[in-house]
Amino acid sequence: MLQESGRDGFSSRLGFVLAAAGSAVGLGNLWRFPYLAEQYGGGIFLLVYVILAVVFGFTLLLTELSLGRRTGKSCIDVFGDLSEKHRAIGWIAALVPVIIVPYYCVIGGWVSKYMFESAAGDLDLTAQTGFFSDFVGFGLGGILGNPMTWFLFFSLVTVFFVFIGVDKGIEKMSKILMPVLFLLIIAITCYVLVLPGSAEGALKYIIPDFSRLSPSTFLGAVGQLFYSMSIAMGILITYGSYMRKDVDISKSARRISFIDTSVAFLAGLMIVPAVYAFSDSGISSGPSLMFVTLPKVFDVMPAGELVAAMFFVLVFFAALTSAVSLAEAVVSIIKDKTGCSRRKSAVITGIIIIALGTLSCCGYGPLEGIQFAGMAFLDMFDFVSNSLLMPVVAILTCLFVGFVLKPSFVIEEVESSGKFGFGKIYGILVKWICPAFLFFILLAGLLSFFGVYSI
Ligand code: PHE
Repeated sequence: MLQESGRDGFSSRLGFVLAAAGSAVGLGNLWRFPYLAEQYGGGIFLLVYVILAVVFGFTLLLTELSLGRRTGKSCIDVFGDLSEKHRAIGWIAALVPVIIVPYYCVIGGWVSKYMFESAAGDLDLTAQTGFFSDFVGFGLGGILGNPMTWFLFFSLVTVFFVFIGVDKGIEKMSKILMPVLFLLIIAITCYVLVLPGSAEGALKYIIPDFSRLSPSTFLGAVGQLFYSMSIAMGILITYGSYMRKDVDISKSARRISFIDTSVAFLAGLMIVPAVYAFSDSGISSGPSLMFVTLPKVFDVMPAGELVAAMFFVLVFFAALTSAVSLAEAVVSIIKDKTGCSRRKSAVITGIIIIALGTLSCCGYGPLEGIQFAGMAFLDMFDFVSNSLLMPVVAILTCLFVGFVLKPSFVIEEVESSGKFGFGKIYGILVKWICPAFLFFILLAGLLSFFGVYSI
């Protein structure tokens, strides 16, 4: 959809929402949200996340879409052309997908491995305790047991799609696959909720425990929010530039945030209680959660092999549509800034993905010795992009709109195609509340993360 066919890439109103949701729903919702929710104390994380989604997520989503539609430009030029002094904001935003897409492909590779294993009828193998850590730690042996193989596979498929530029086809496919994924998640969730022991987990996931609240909860939730909704990386500005003038921005922003948050909520409800149901079988938490817990659920489920295969196929496509739109963002930056053709830019993007992704992929194996404040490469890239760069981009975007452009720039654009429910307080939100709060979260989260201060 983000093609050179003019600036009216979306044929219908619903088409826009679905395309944006197809790109937004990905590993962020299915893999990242559940493990963060589990790590940061369940219900309290959920509560903080939803409040932040309604206030900041929605405000920023709407701001980025409006900036893009009003100017018809993509992220670097929006800032630079409106005010030369502020071009750097666009560059920092553009850096974010460059950092994310390589490690996204590493995780896409893990999903591919699980998809093939479950389709080949080897579900019991993946359900074994230790399988995942052996796999990512290069301990399985053989070409098909090597995570690099799967990372390269996923990266090549992603780069292939941006190389030939058929993301329109991929978006069409995601419109069919997304609802199927949604239904399958609901079905698996129902199954998990009747497993003995899962009720305790479901309550932990839903009921907030205020003693677990800390600045890190906010930093984790903000980073996740931006990642999941694809905010603060310039991508939605480009999407906005392709949006038709008669599409209601406020309504679209509401729908996109609703779809994205519901999928994340359900994914958590599917995975977190399952952790409790299987807590005696050595479940680890963190990034491996989806890969360790779910195979165990599938293994005891009637027709588990089939459900597992279907599930990982759908996660694969959800990850692929997101990876393609992330890679597309990188390709268009390279294309616009260097004047290279789409294909040449896609090859350069592929080289970046393979170079940085190899570090992330090997960070749990041969490069295990290299750590950054206790984090392996993948976790470090994730932390730098989600917890550092995105809040910084979000703060700068708010200040830019609030003080350089003035809030009316966005309000007029939103009101040109529909009602702006909170138009009156938007100015205060974007000028003061969002930047001040985000700045506080960023600072307090960083201090507590590095152990300098904790409450
Ligand atoms: N939001 C996607 C996810 O949740 C990741 C993504 C970011 C996709 C930016 C496209 C663009 O996985």
